[in-house]
Amino acid sequence: MSQYADFYRQSIEQRDSFWSEQAQLVDWKTPPTQVCDYGNPPFAKWFVGGTTNLCHNAVDRHLASRAGQTALIAISTETETERAYSFAELHIEVQRMAASLLAMGVKKGDRVLIYMPMIAEAAFAMLACVRIGALHSVVFGGFAAGSLASRIEDAEPVAVVSADAGSRGGKVVPYKPLLDEAIALSKHKPQAVLMVNRGLAPMHLQPGRDHDWAALRAQHINAVVPCEWVESTHPSYTLYTSGTTGKPKGVQRDTGGYTVALAASMKHIFDAEAGQTFFATSDIGWVVGHSYIVYGPLIAGMATIMYEGLPTRPDAGVWWSIVEKYKVTHMFSAPTAVRVLKKQDPAYLSKYDVRSLKALWLAGEPLDEPTAQWISSALQVPIIDNYWQTETGWPILTLANGVEQQSTRFGSPGKAMYGYDVKLIDESTGEELTGANQKGVVAIEGPLPPGCMQTVWRDDARFVNTYWKSIPGRLIYSTFDWGIRDADGYHFILGRTDDVINVAGHRLGTREIEESIASHPNIAEVAVVGVADSLKGQVAMAFAVAKDATGLTDDAARLTLEGEVMKQVDKQLGAVARPSRVYFVTVLPKTRSGKLLRRALQAVAERRDPGDLTTMEDPAALQQVKDLVG
Ligand code: PRX
Repeated sequence: MSQYADFYRQSIEQRDSFWSEQAQLVDWKTPPTQVCDYGNPPFAKWFVGGTTNLCHNAVDRHLASRAGQTALIAISTETETERAYSFAELHIEVQRMAASLLAMGVKKGDRVLIYMPMIAEAAFAMLACVRIGALHSVVFGGFAAGSLASRIEDAEPVAVVSADAGSRGGKVVPYKPLLDEAIALSKHKPQAVLMVNRGLAPMHLQPGRDHDWAALRAQHINAVVPCEWVESTHPSYTLYTSGTTGKPKGVQRDTGGYTVALAASMKHIFDAEAGQTFFATSDIGWVVGHSYIVYGPLIAGMATIMYEGLPTRPDAGVWWSIVEKYKVTHMFSAPTAVRVLKKQDPAYLSKYDVRSLKALWLAGEPLDEPTAQWISSALQVPIIDNYWQTETGWPILTLANGVEQQSTRFGSPGKAMYGYDVKLIDESTGEELTGANQKGVVAIEGPLPPGCMQTVWRDDARFVNTYWKSIPGRLIYSTFDWGIRDADGYHFILGRTDDVINVAGHRLGTREIEESIASHPNIAEVAVVGVADSLKGQVAMAFAVAKDATGLTDDAARLTLEGEVMKQVDKQLGAVARPSRVYFVTVLPKTRSGKLLRRALQAVAERRDPGDLTTMEDPAALQQVKDLVG
């Protein structure tokens, strides 16, 4: 049996001793008394009885051995600034932020919403929250007031940390007006707002509620804020993600399990060591930002790079210049970013010395072969696909190079990671598929390993009902992805089973976009589907029925309405959710019982055969779509 196969088998068959060993990778104030309590499935409690702190493990723990080593490098090609913080400096800044949050009335268990661009203060804020036992809820800076408001309402934060503005492609994007609008829209009102002023956009501070970070920081310049030792099961954060229904789910993560899972992943999956440099090009608003920009690398004692800017500005060599300058050893990105770079002059890749790189990990969306081949030959390092979800917090499928070097297989994110009892389930019978190359729903038999979601924030029933199915005697977590496994254990992901789409690695719920479009006064009905796109993987495409269609035969009138609908989505959800096109039809393809034929609509929008249409009410509906997409 190969080394990894043996390692994997132990993780499943001797679960407790396996994870007990992994728990040694982190510091505990009080060691756990029980590895896994699965007495109330599907709720798993990891490292019960243990107390620890995520910030301690990411920052304080390293002070004895590497206080002067670089911990965080914040680079912005938007503001042309670059600043490195050692572990000692990070420790000081985090305490200043923690003291400021405490002064604003934040207590253990309270939520703090973080709505920020990719600046160092965003990492300080996350670490400060977990330091004092408060839960952060980071909302991606690209989300607009409506999305932000629904998250404020659900998380009920005591405080918000934000900044005057972000910047994208040289264009300043003010955050404060969006935040003020979101708070006005939300039924819940945070009692305090901490604003970082970057000097990018003017902002009005509301007396009594809004605080200026520079002023509070100055007041707490010598702050000493000890870590709050929390139960292993104490939630560290919530992070919202899209699903089938319009309302995003707050994925809730614990403290001890997450710390252990990340420490173990840095060792076994990334083969990383303290003193090396990790560069994940994601955003703190996404799960990759949580696990592999902020916590994972810091827990491992590595330097981590936070990058604000585009991969192509000032030119397409910018990432490789960063790799050269900081001797980046581990790089983590998404296929879309690589496809963007592939369109640029390949000379940029040979301009810099990237020999420090050990590998490039790509995640978030399917990695197509031409993209993988191109970047692999350009960088001359292994390209490692990895598949996971906001819900799991760390890779489900990839290669564990730290355990055993295994070869990659194009088109496959790899093998089941230790701790994940991955199954393929036949959707119609609900039974496990055990043969090679059979298509099924990728599922994980409970308990989910450490680091995965504990529950949906304040909605245990939704956690159980959304994700868990029982097959005789067992509870199985559904990923909502189709997959197959070959005879050697390599998996292939074949797309979502639900209405979630993946645009440029961003996970979006089509229902959420539909709700936003349907709130336009002249929209009667709408269907949004994901359509294959050579650059972004998928784009959202909307097919709408207007309430008043008079005039819509005119091109200009159609374009005006399309523009209005797009603006509405921008304003409510953010430009990330804007459909690439809004087509107007007189009827949507439905079954005789009124069910929308999404798969058929998507097939036609992708110029594929829509398959069996015998249940369709009005065949003309698909013909209209066919004519429109050409
Ligand atoms: O559909 C799968 C797709 O992205 C979903 C999870 O998205 P998110 O919650 O944003 O987490 C991203 C964490 C990297 C999955 O259900 N997905 C993610 N990685 C891959 C992927 N599809 C194919 N290949 C991947 N490597």
